[in-house]
Parts: sequence; C-alpha cells; structure tokens
Amino acid sequence: MGFDRAIKIAPSILSADFANFGTEIQAVEAQGADWIHVDVMDGHFVPNLTFGPPLCKAIRRHIKTVMDVHLMIAPVDPYIEAFADAGADILTAHLEAGPHIHRTLQAIRGAGCKAGLALNPGTGLADVEHLLDMVDLICVMTVNPGFGGQKFIHSQIDKVRRLRAMIGDRPIHIEIDGGIDPTTAPLMAAAGADVLVAGSAVFKGGSVDQPAPYGDNIRAIRTAAAAAQA
Ligand code: DX5
Ligand code: ZN
Repeated sequence: MGFDRAIKIAPSILSADFANFGTEIQAVEAQGADWIHVDVMDGHFVPNLTFGPPLCKAIRRHIKTVMDVHLMIAPVDPYIEAFADAGADILTAHLEAGPHIHRTLQAIRGAGCKAGLALNPGTGLADVEHLLDMVDLICVMTVNPGFGGQKFIHSQIDKVRRLRAMIGDRPIHIEIDGGIDPTTAPLMAAAGADVLVAGSAVFKGGSVDQPAPYGDNIRAIRTAAAAAQA
C-alpha cells in the first residue's frame, strides 16, 4: 500500500446485501471501488450492531483492494489481534472509545496494520496533535456514527481544512465518512480529504445482478471530488 493523495472511493458494505457480502464486494471492486470500508459496530459505543472478526475473516478473500476496518466499538484493545488476524489492512479506532487512544494506536501498528484514528462530529482537533506521528489515516465522521443514510454535517468541512493544515507533509490520509454523495464529496475534497467512504450513494439503484449503477455512482462521486481536489 503506497501513499498518495489521489481520490479513493471506499464503499461501505453497511449498505450492501448482508446475505451476499462476497459477491457485493466483487461487484463494487469490478465497478471501480478503491478500498472496501467495513463498519464494525458493537451496540454500545454506537446504537447499532453489525459484525465482528469472523465475518471480516470470511470476506477477506473476496477483497482484492484494501480492507479498511472502521471500529465503532469500546473497548478496542482486546479485539485488535482478532481483527489483524482477520486480515484488516487498516484498523481505525475512535478517539472517543477510551482513555488510552495512544496505546490503542501503538497496538494497532504493533499488530501489523495501518493505524486509523476516527473523530466524531462533536470532537475537536486539539487532542489529535500528539497522535499525528502514529497514524496513517484520520477519519473525520461527517455523521454521528451508527447508521448509513444519514445527512451530511456541514460543520465538518472546516475541521477537515484545519486538519489538512495540521498534517502538512506527513503521509496521512484524510478519510471522510457519512452522507457522502456527488454533492458533498467535492466540498470535502476541496477541504483536503482524499478517501471518501460512501454507503448508500454507492449501492443505490444496483444489485449483484445489476451492478452497473454501482459503477455510475462511484464515477459520479470520483469525478466531482477530483475536480474539486485542492
Ligand atoms: C456510519 C458508518 C458509515 C456509513 C456511511 O456509522 O461509519 O461508514 O455506512 O453510510 P452513508 O454513506 O450511507 O452515509
Ligand atoms: Zn464507517
């Protein structure tokens, strides 16, 4: 996984057919997805439940690109090894998930994964400063985590702009997650985001039998974002 800031579209399988993860992943990758975004929820840190390490391990062999695992769980540390064993390329933990995010990020890299740090919409950037040299990705949540299909929160545009300036030349991706579509993606690309997670806006209108809309949706987001990229 080399580093570049070209726009990457990461479909969230939260919006896929849960009975067909393998074929859904193959379909979105064939239609141009750059990464596959996997939303792990525990019904405690967020008010929704999805899946854990065994499911991640089962879908891993269908992912040819990058397995980007977003952990919306607390605590995180007891599960890091299991998600690393499941084949995660990137493991992203929330800054709000516990008192020892520094230790969590060390443990993620120690387990051989790229380390991601996610920030809820209500979280500021002050606490990020001392973590910058231990992360490969910062995920700015543009909705409150827990569900797909929510409305984009515009106050996060300025957060991304300020985060981009803080990052400087460091090889850190800025990922945005929630409410991303061809209208909101360019606002965030202009502010400095390079990895765009999209669930409902990618999967809408298509299916494993009719996957062409996935490609149209991915292209629409990518084209709008690339034209606006700073
Ligand atoms: C929200 C998840 C997102 C979500 C995005 O808690 O982290 O990845 O699936 O879904 P959309 O793109 O539908 O807002
Ligand atoms: Zn996510």
